[in-house]
Amino acid sequence: MNQQTAQRNDTTANGDSAEDRVRIFDTTLRDGEQAPGFSMDRRAKLCMAQALETLGVDILEAGFPQASPDDFAAVEEIARTLRTATVCALARCQTGDIDTAARALEHAKSSRIHLFLSTSPLHREHKLGMSKQQVVETAIASIEHARKYCADIEFSAEDAMRTEPEFLIEVFSAAIAAGATTVNVPDTVGYITPSEMLERITYLRQHVRDAHKAVFSTHCHDDLGMAVANSLAAVSAGARQVECTINGIGERAGNAALEEIVMALKVRAPHFGLRTGIDTRKLHPTSRLLTQLTGQVVQRNKAIVGDNAFAHESGIHQHGMLKHRDTYEIMHPQDVGISETTLVLGKHSGRHALRQRLEALGHTVDDEAMESIFKRFKALADRKREVRDEDLEALALGQDPDA
Ligand code: KIV
Ligand code: ZN
Repeated sequence: MNQQTAQRNDTTANGDSAEDRVRIFDTTLRDGEQAPGFSMDRRAKLCMAQALETLGVDILEAGFPQASPDDFAAVEEIARTLRTATVCALARCQTGDIDTAARALEHAKSSRIHLFLSTSPLHREHKLGMSKQQVVETAIASIEHARKYCADIEFSAEDAMRTEPEFLIEVFSAAIAAGATTVNVPDTVGYITPSEMLERITYLRQHVRDAHKAVFSTHCHDDLGMAVANSLAAVSAGARQVECTINGIGERAGNAALEEIVMALKVRAPHFGLRTGIDTRKLHPTSRLLTQLTGQVVQRNKAIVGDNAFAHESGIHQHGMLKHRDTYEIMHPQDVGISETTLVLGKHSGRHALRQRLEALGHTVDDEAMESIFKRFKALADRKREVRDEDLEALALGQDPDA
């Protein structure tokens, strides 16, 4: 395995300053894939991995090789295939897991081993049966073991947000001293709020020993619907890696949605002053590829990639959009890979959008004809959810669309 793959803390792969560059760590193929309904076979995982690399993710978590022979094979194949993204494999803090992860990553151009260990009192007592000291010792021993294979080591303190902050300082300080190059602060159960996240990351960055030697990372779950807001709060506090998934898939209510984080950083660039390496025009195609591979669609009103994200039905909004697109859109559909805004014709639509659509279909109508068509259009829209082009053709020709 390549021992030279760890990124120095002050630059990213393409030489950007780490100060204003947020690394996107995609875990669609690990945390996303392990959620019910989203499992993918090797072929699907490889296909998705290639799309994620083209999208521009910095680190791609390909799987948990110890979990199953198929997951091992998927990680191995992805590691052999990818050229620019760092391929990451998850491992518990156990020698067997680490050795398996290292074998799966053997042929990667750039690789990372991601170790995780629970740190919260609940997990220490009920899941691990370990004392604080045992947790610290296990983390150190595992990081040192993983370092024999790989220079790029991430350590995650599972359930960090329900862990005593002072203990987190102890664990992360020990992890960095043992050689971790990224320290991840997961909100494993989606419990924290954005203001608490801002405070916690700030506190950790101030108190963890040699904090500057590691990249601080955030990994948020969406149980209370705050995963993206919490991730952005972490970034505001200095985290420079965000762990996220396409369409926000992941355990229970999911992980922070990659497309939402990336577009928030782009659209509100003056606010955050940060960049990612993502080609945002590939967001929608990548989202659609995932829905094809898993058979799970995204809801219509999903931010950025839902069918309604750039669609308008109400007459007032459509009128505004026809005058100036910025009235009701804060980003252009083309920026995320959607060809154009849709003005959906339905019972909320007005004359302006109707006339525009009729003209686009080649029907120029005078005001009198328009009044009659508009009345019949409204009656039809009350009966149907959406009025389609073929219905409009019939209306314009004086025919009954229902006939
Ligand atoms: O949610 C979590 O804590 C995880 C870790 C493995 C990082 O997925
Ligand atoms: Zn997770």
